[in-house]
Amino acid sequence: MATFDFHQLDRFYGSSTSIRRPREFTYFSFDDKHELRTLCTDSLSYYHPPVFNAPGTHAPPIDLSAGFDSFVQRDDGIDEHLDALLDTLQAHEEQLLQDVQGGSVKIEDVRTKADIVTWRGMMTKILTAAFDMFNEFEMNATCFQGTISFIEENNAAKAARRTAQNNQKTPRGGAPQEMMQYWGYKFETLSVLPKPWAECTRQEVEARDAQTVNNNAQYCSIVRTGIGAISLIIAGEVDAVLGEKPDSPDDPIPWIELKTAAEQTGHPREAVKFERKLLNYWAQSFLLAVPTIMVGFRTPDGFLTRIQELSTQKIPSQVKQGNRTWDGNVCINLTGAFLEILKRTVIGDGVWRIRRKQGEKRIEVFKVEEVGTGSILKPSFKAHREKL
Ligand code: A3P
Ligand code: MG
Ligand code: MG
Repeated sequence: MATFDFHQLDRFYGSSTSIRRPREFTYFSFDDKHELRTLCTDSLSYYHPPVFNAPGTHAPPIDLSAGFDSFVQRDDGIDEHLDALLDTLQAHEEQLLQDVQGGSVKIEDVRTKADIVTWRGMMTKILTAAFDMFNEFEMNATCFQGTISFIEENNAAKAARRTAQNNQKTPRGGAPQEMMQYWGYKFETLSVLPKPWAECTRQEVEARDAQTVNNNAQYCSIVRTGIGAISLIIAGEVDAVLGEKPDSPDDPIPWIELKTAAEQTGHPREAVKFERKLLNYWAQSFLLAVPTIMVGFRTPDGFLTRIQELSTQKIPSQVKQGNRTWDGNVCINLTGAFLEILKRTVIGDGVWRIRRKQGEKRIEVFKVEEVGTGSILKPSFKAHREKL
């Protein structure tokens, strides 16, 4: 067992360890029934903000609760493991294999190599661990062909947490949790188009107002990146692109992350709360190189008040000039140090648990299965890799 203790954060302050800019090398879509489409951009969305409060226009206020009764909601109780990510890596590698036959790719370059393969959500939890005292997690990790893969342990830990969240009392005068969640998806639906704006008719743009909100469709980007000595492959959903994806794979992609947040009324406590929220916004966006976050502020009853553009890169320095509730360099340095321990611990056969309990300033890594790869890696992926 390895214990990574971060009671003392002093050693993580200072300039941050080196980071490789995350670059997308493949992607997938889930369609509106949540069916997987590997190497497919069908669910890519294009940012185009809703028109409201514009001087000279008489557009009615935007009610984010509208259409709540017809919300088509993804069943997130299903344990999806790393399946979509692994299927996409396999499809990507199979495509490279064809290029080997054509002579443009060497066979040894087909297998995607990295120290760690995981979902962005898992990395967000590690990146925010030092400053988010409500943060807790249980993940499973295994080592296969030299790569550590890890996912959240879904069933027990995740289900228990969800039940606790759902049982939380709605604050007096506040909206229920499910409604607040809906506002986030409604804001996304009102802020994106299925095609670049220039290819849409006015009717298509206006149709968003009455569109059923369905959170099954997702576009997920898979990037290569690195923190210190550790190389990573990270997959996560991106909400929209500004303009279009550039033609060259070397150019950064102008991704947009969409968020909703309660409008500020000027109370200092609200500023602190928002700064803590920024930690998650920043961590999530930083990991996939999403440069811009559009925050839709709303009234307590879900009416949009304004949209504010945030630059991901500038968030840590804004926080330094604000209430200093967190420090981006500490997040990165702590992550780099933890991943090195993980790499040294998860070696050979078996399954490890990575656990952080709420309120504790340590992450524990311990073996839970002596052999095999648990249910982390699907058999078809292993069969594909063993053929390579
Ligand atoms: P908001 O972030 O606007 O509240 P994401 O921001 O990651 O693209 O997620 C879109 C929406 O999914 C969120 O909108 C929120 O409604 C919901 N959501 C995301 N993560 C959640 C979580 N951990 N618990 C509850 N709802 C979540
Ligand atoms: Mg999203
Ligand atoms: Mg979002």
